[in-house]
Amino acid sequence: MFHVLVLFCLYWWHLTGVFGESVSVMEGDSVTLKTNVTEIQQAHDIWWKFGSSRSDIAKIKKQQQIFSTFDGPDGRFRDRLKLDNKTGFLTITNITTQHAGLYEVEMSGVKLSSKTFSVSVYAHLPVPVISSNSSQCSSSSSSSYCSLLCSVVNVGHVTLSWYKGNSLLSSISVSDLSISLSLPLEVQYQDKNSYSCVLNNHINNQTTHLDITQLCHTCSDQGLPLLYIVLISAAAGSLLIVAAVLWYCFCWKHKQIGQKTVIHEIYENDSTLPNPKPRKTKSKEPVYGNIDRNNQK
Ligand SMILES: *[C@@H]1O[C@H](CO)[C@@H](O)[C@H](O)[C@H]1NC(C)=O
Ligand SMILES: *[C@@H]1O[C@H](CO)[C@@H](O)[C@H](O)[C@H]1NC(C)=O
Ligand SMILES: *[C@@H]1O[C@H](CO)[C@@H](O)[C@H](O)[C@H]1NC(C)=O
Ligand SMILES: *[C@@H]1O[C@H](CO)[C@@H](O)[C@H](O)[C@H]1NC(C)=O
Ligand SMILES: *[C@@H]1O[C@H](CO)[C@@H](O)[C@H](O)[C@H]1NC(C)=O
Repeated sequence: MFHVLVLFCLYWWHLTGVFGESVSVMEGDSVTLKTNVTEIQQAHDIWWKFGSSRSDIAKIKKQQQIFSTFDGPDGRFRDRLKLDNKTGFLTITNITTQHAGLYEVEMSGVKLSSKTFSVSVYAHLPVPVISSNSSQCSSSSSSSYCSLLCSVVNVGHVTLSWYKGNSLLSSISVSDLSISLSLPLEVQYQDKNSYSCVLNNHINNQTTHLDITQLCHTCSDQGLPLLYIVLISAAAGSLLIVAAVLWYCFCWKHKQIGQKTVIHEIYENDSTLPNPKPRKTKSKEPVYGNIDRNNQK
């Protein structure tokens, strides 16, 4: 019973003690900092402060019905703070790394009390990229391993790991800000296991699964495209020949049609030839019309 009590106290101390409550949040998300009261009493005044300079960012004077938020140092809290006028809870919306740090709430009531929050803001993680480190294909006799590299750029406070199924193969951690990381892996060409590269921080992770068939070509695999090129060229050549033949036929036929029309025109103009139907209607025209046409010729 005593142990439970000690554990409970330690837990409580951890939550509200000297180091305050630790809060982790993803960039772009919202976080609500909660006082240990759920309803503000008439006598309560509440101040929210931020950073080592303890700048005022929100204030409640219940009796005077004052509920206000401030833009904070260099205006970094502008349009991002929401103050719950019933509980005094402070919500920071669309948080950025600029808003990471220490927050403190002071409550004056029957007696003054305060609580601190240590807010960590994590940037969104990039998706790790897996690339093949060996540019040339492996001749099946010399090496049966394919060298791979998993990389990320501009990361901080993260761990990059290779997993085979669910078991960890290797990992590398970095505590600095904004650096590039890469981790090698060698797999057999015929390996049927599922491999994945995972980038994670305290609250989030990004995973890329390895596609061995896509990244690791054996020499025989590379020979295949050459065969395709030959086949495609052959097919293209045949197509060209077919097209040429078709074009020739088309031209020849077109020429024939052209000749037919010429012949037809000649027939039309010659009144001595049969098929005088069109001429008949035209013969109803006045004579000067014909003369006129002859003059024009
Ligand atoms: C809030 O917590 C502080 C210590 O963290 C304590 O001194 C204070 O009495 C608590 N206030 C209420 C209303 O429970
Ligand atoms: C608290 O906020 C709500 C909604 O914004 C408003 O309707 C209400 O009047 C406010 N109460 C006080 C005491 O200001
Ligand atoms: C969140 O903040 C970023 C950077 O300050 C800004 O570009 C973006 O428009 C904001 N998003 C919303 C939904 O307010
Ligand atoms: C491939 O990996 C080896 C070690 O595994 C390394 O020495 C070499 O520089 C890498 N090559 C490339 C192109 O990344
Ligand atoms: C990645 O995060 C998801 C939840 O977001 C979790 O289920 C999974 O176990 C995590 N994977 C690793 C390798 O940490």
